Amino acid sequence: MTKKKLIVGNWKMNPETAAEARTTFTKIKTKAAKLKNADTVICPPSLFLGDLRKLVTGKRCVLGAQNCHAAVSGAHTGEISAVQIASMKVPYVILGHSERRAAGEGDEDISQKIKAAMASGLKVILCVGEEKRDRDGKYLRTVEMQLLNDLSKIAKTDLSQLVIAYEPIWAIGKNALRPATPGDVFEMKIFVKRVLTDKFGKENADQTMFLYGGSVDDKNTEEFLGDGQADGLLVGRASLSAEIFGKIMEIGDRVAAKK
Ligand code: PGA
Repeated sequence: MTKKKLIVGNWKMNPETAAEARTTFTKIKTKAAKLKNADTVICPPSLFLGDLRKLVTGKRCVLGAQNCHAAVSGAHTGEISAVQIASMKVPYVILGHSERRAAGEGDEDISQKIKAAMASGLKVILCVGEEKRDRDGKYLRTVEMQLLNDLSKIAKTDLSQLVIAYEPIWAIGKNALRPATPGDVFEMKIFVKRVLTDKFGKENADQTMFLYGGSVDDKNTEEFLGDGQADGLLVGRASLSAEIFGKIMEIGDRVAAKK
């Protein structure tokens, strides 16, 4: 059976208007409807989720939030809860993105958010990744600790609701040093699988998809999904252009169909 690729767009605090968000989402959705071997998730600013939700028509292009609060409701000005996201029939949430970690979110916060999100039935895209690479492999330990701490409150049966996005900080954004290599991605996929297998058992670990994120564009997509063996991609800047993101989706569909 073909294993579909999962192509996720993280729009961050973009675009500037709801009208632009609707236009870009509609183009992406139209493209997604044609692709049998790739599923797409768009994560816009939460303010636009309600509007875009009305445009969702099938299962091939759905929505995700970029964060949630661990509480169900209450006095948390400016926050949104997992229950609220689920009530909008938005199936995914990104948690632990490096930009949120840099703003002060710790592993304990993330672990509580993951628990709340999973209790609401959301699928969690958990971002992990080291700040820099070192020769003696400390970066592996960094990722291992993120995984173990962030996943400390979930049960092994929750792994089917989990997607891991490996996003090395040095490869993210316009100041990125360079994108990772397919070799970097493959090595980390094996490592993440091992950590998950040791903690949750192989059968459960096999349910979890492994994405790569960091300077992904239509030129390097094929190598991350091919040689890198990522199950999908988490795309920042390149997801803001329906044309470029559409190419990434098409390549994902093609690579999945070949396997
Ligand atoms: P980038 O961002 O694709 O713009 O590097 C990826 C991310 O931060 O999710």
